[in-house]
Amino acid sequence: MEKQYIMALDEGTTGVRAIIFDKSGYVISDCSREFTQIFPTPGWVEHDAEEILEAQIEVARRAISKAKISPGEIRAIGVTNQRETSVIWDRVTGKPIYNAICWQSRQTAEIIEKWVGDGLSEEIRERTGLVIDAYFSASKIPWILDRIPGARQRAEQGELLFGTIDTWLIWNLTGGKSHKTDYSNASRTMLFNIMKMEWDEELCRKMDIPMAILPQVIDSNGDFGVAGASLFGAEIPIRGDAGDQQAALFGQACFKPGMAKNTFGTAGVYVMNTGDKPLFKEGLTTTIAWGINGKVSYALEGVIFISGATIQWLRDEAKIIYTAADTEWYGFMVPDTGGVYLVPAFVGLCAPYWDMYARGMIIGITRGTSRNHLIRAGLEALAYQTKDIINAVIKDGTIEVSELRVDGGAVKNSLLCQFQSDILGIPVIRPQITEMTALGAAYLAGLGSGLWQSMNDIASQWAIDRTFTPEMPSERRDNLYQGWQEAVQLCRGWAKK
Ligand code: G3P
Repeated sequence: MEKQYIMALDEGTTGVRAIIFDKSGYVISDCSREFTQIFPTPGWVEHDAEEILEAQIEVARRAISKAKISPGEIRAIGVTNQRETSVIWDRVTGKPIYNAICWQSRQTAEIIEKWVGDGLSEEIRERTGLVIDAYFSASKIPWILDRIPGARQRAEQGELLFGTIDTWLIWNLTGGKSHKTDYSNASRTMLFNIMKMEWDEELCRKMDIPMAILPQVIDSNGDFGVAGASLFGAEIPIRGDAGDQQAALFGQACFKPGMAKNTFGTAGVYVMNTGDKPLFKEGLTTTIAWGINGKVSYALEGVIFISGATIQWLRDEAKIIYTAADTEWYGFMVPDTGGVYLVPAFVGLCAPYWDMYARGMIIGITRGTSRNHLIRAGLEALAYQTKDIINAVIKDGTIEVSELRVDGGAVKNSLLCQFQSDILGIPVIRPQITEMTALGAAYLAGLGSGLWQSMNDIASQWAIDRTFTPEMPSERRDNLYQGWQEAVQLCRGWAKK
């Protein structure tokens, strides 16, 4: 039987998805489902790792049956995931000892403050490329180990395992045989030395993290084990794994230094390939893009915690839209927000501000402000935040950003793409496939399993759907952006006041 398809398992912050691609990179089938967001107390965000696993397997099975192919025709699986979110489980029973702590969660802020007090900030920056923050995995580990009775001792004895969600899925899909992650995911833990390409022993000691629980780190197109036949009807090798943002960079075929993309997912993430050299810039993080056939590429990254999640908030909490797509309809009903800004600092602000205590705000409301204005303000916030990041990229004048490749669910919204182009003053390019995260994971698995021979084969498949060019006069652009920056300053440090 010819094995000509790749299945991408795309585990995001709010939902799981499985997409089957053919050799031309076309989507044969696509199934997805949301999972429960647990908010135990304001600022905390947790997930049930077992629910994620069950949901991921279910959508994969549905994708196979919808594709009308035999599972034996699937050559390999590529895994991609919300990064940093951390789970610790019992290596014998496979049961998590606590919920997965989501990357968005602020519950470990005190641990971070202690580490800042211990003088770890510089060391962390130099060795891991990251800015000390509760966002990354590291502080989530001692938080769990010191809260669950006996956990620390069991971890030291090697009875517990840690993983980001890719590792959790891979371990389970391979029946507990493979406890692995890839370089891109490891580089988001704040425990991985991106210069030496190994878990940093000294940082682990200073942060009180038993190294016995950490997974093996391998290439993003490496051998992650085999998903058993009892799961999908045939044995399928797992030959790709990358954090979702790096996977999207790969899907966008940004293979040369200087090439970049912005993904509008739950988070909004700008990632630029910097080749074989790590590049450090104030307010941004330095990370690993991927490891391919023994060679690592670095990336410069700027993360917005709440990007597409602003739209989910308008839908699920504020309840002023029914579906995410409504934002385009209602947003177009008004020419602008009428002076309203919505700063979605719901879980603090990430790059370039790094403020764990900022909180969300809507400002500029007048008697004439309507639902349409609020919805439009929510949508525009995605674009303003991306501009904040790009300003940090170009600030010292060493890098020029002349266009922006975009992807992720929200870019179907043409109002957003046009406003993004207007507020940046550069073209915004929407490719034909916008599910770049899944496509990138599929490409990695296809490279790992020989479906594609080279990165050139992959780059030739990238194609444009539409290019948005700036239409807004520069004076208006500057005024609008200045208002945004002032609004951001007002919500800084709020949770501490
Ligand atoms: O670092 C967080 C990021 O990986 C989340 O991605 O796609 O769920 O917004 P997403």
